[in-house]
Formats: sequence, structure tokens, C-alpha cells
Amino acid sequence: MRIVAIGATSAIAEHCCRLWVQREPCDLLLVARDAAKAQRIAADLGVRAPNATIALTTMDFLDTAAIEKLADQAAAGGAIDIVLIAHGMMPDQKDVQGDLALCRRTLEVNAISPALFAEAFARHLERMGRGTLAIVGSVAGDRGRKANYSYGATKGFLERYAQGLDHRLAGRGVKVVLIKPGPTDTPLAAAHKARGRKLAAVEDVARTIVRGIDAGRPVVYAPTLWVAIMLVVRSLPRAVFNRLDI
Ligand SMILES: NC(=O)c1ccc[n+]([C@@H]2O[C@H](COP(=O)([O-])OP(=O)(O)OC[C@H]3O[C@@H](n4cnc5c(N)ncnc54)[C@H](OP(=O)(O)O)[C@@H]3O)[C@@H](O)[C@H]2O)c1
Repeated sequence: MRIVAIGATSAIAEHCCRLWVQREPCDLLLVARDAAKAQRIAADLGVRAPNATIALTTMDFLDTAAIEKLADQAAAGGAIDIVLIAHGMMPDQKDVQGDLALCRRTLEVNAISPALFAEAFARHLERMGRGTLAIVGSVAGDRGRKANYSYGATKGFLERYAQGLDHRLAGRGVKVVLIKPGPTDTPLAAAHKARGRKLAAVEDVARTIVRGIDAGRPVVYAPTLWVAIMLVVRSLPRAVFNRLDI
């Protein structure tokens, strides 16, 4: 199986890669911004699965030309089974509100960058007539909340983008999977953890994601329980919702 993991140093991506390499022979391309961290992950995956082929590349995730070049080069290497787009940042909402530069960076890293990666790979998968484009959104994209609406808006944007790609690629052999993790025990959610919030184990979330990608489901909530939770959250009337401190 040939996999491109973008944002490969993310704990969620790393655990998905562990499951893939332990399951079957894999040709993995890890795409990251931090070379040392990516090398550590590549070495660990190599120990777990000595038969896996693991390459890594580092880049600026906001560099349009570099994104295009990466997709072109990866596609030139042959058919791709899975492109996982996993990077993201979640600064505190209050910091984002007080700092327009941070607001812009959050919007760019979480929305523009993943959309550009998705677009750059979509054309190759479309031409190949196969493969899965898996984009990591969030339950936070389901409804804007005062506690994290800048981050949530980027994830809502990704949902609409994935939906459009799914429509475009329907019947062309390519699957588009939007992944919506709930709060998960990774560095991104460290502040939640410090406040004592209950977080899902990243191993469980990765298992649900890998199963969802296998099934080619258009939307994968991880853990699955979040399907029901977000149904309730989305259904609450505004008058009720706006009285909640969430
Ligand atoms: N954990 C949760 O509760 C949760 C819930 C819902 C959705 N998600 C989503 O899941 C995805 C993976 O996050 P995670 O939970 O696995 O967190 P994580 O371990 O903290 O990973 C975050 C990833 O994003 C990368 N990143 C951050 N800023 C970047 C930038 N400016 N340019 C390029 N890469 C950047 C990080 O790179 P470095 O390693 O170089 O820092 C890292 O690979 C994200 O899209 C996140 O929004 C997470």
C-alpha cells in the first residue's frame, strides 16, 4: 500500500501509520515541517515494520509551489492508495481574538494549506482513477462556539471543501474521507488535558480512522460516539445554545 502522510509528525497521523505498517507492506512518504521529529517517527515505524519502505520530506506547508511539486513528485512514483492530510494548530481562542496575525496563521495552516494539499493530490488521484483522499477535520467544525470558533471555522471550511471534492470525484474511483476526531489525547489538546477534560486515546481514534478510510466513508467521526453528540449540539436552538458556556 502506498501512503502519503502530510503532517506526519501529528500524533494522530503517526498512530494511523503504525496501524498501516503493522497490517501490511507499506510504502510510506512522511511529509513534515520538522525534520528531526519526522526522522524519529520514521525510525520508530521502521523498527515496527522492517519490511516497510519509509521516505520523508520536509517543507513549508504554506508554500503553494512546494505543495504542487510534492504532489507531482509523489504521483510520478506510481499509484497512491491513501493521502492523509493531518496537520493543524489549535491556539487558545482568546489569543487568536487578540492577535490578528495569529488569527491569519490559524486560518492558513488549518484551512488554506490542507485545501491546497487536497487540490494538488486530487488531480493525480483523478487521473489514476483510484486512491483515497483523507482529510482531518474536527467535530469543532460542526458548529461555531465561542471557545474555539476560529479553529472550528477552518474545520467547517474543510468539510465543505471535502464535500465538493467528493462530488467532483464521484464515480471516478477516488474516495474522499473527512475525518472528525473528538478531543483526543495528543499535543494539540494539551491545554484541554491540563484543564482535566476527558480525551480519547489516540490509539482508539487512529483505529476508527483507519477503519473509516478502509470503508471509504465520506465522514468519519472518531470515536464514533461523537456522531450522536454532535447531532445534539447541531440541533440545539440558538436561544438555548447561546446560553451555554461551551
Ligand atoms: N487532538 C485533538 O483533540 C483533535 C481533535 C479534532 C481534530 N484534530 C485534528 O487532528 C489533526 C492532527 O492533530 P493531532 O491531534 O495529532 O495533534 P499534534 O500531534 O499536535 O499534531 C499537529 C500537527 O500539525 C503540525 N503543524 C502545526 N502547525 C503547523 C504549521 N504551521 N505548518 C505545518 N505543520 C504544522 C505539527 O507539526 P510539528 O510536529 O512540526 O509541530 C503536527 O504534525 C489536526 O488537523 C487537528 O486539528 C485533533
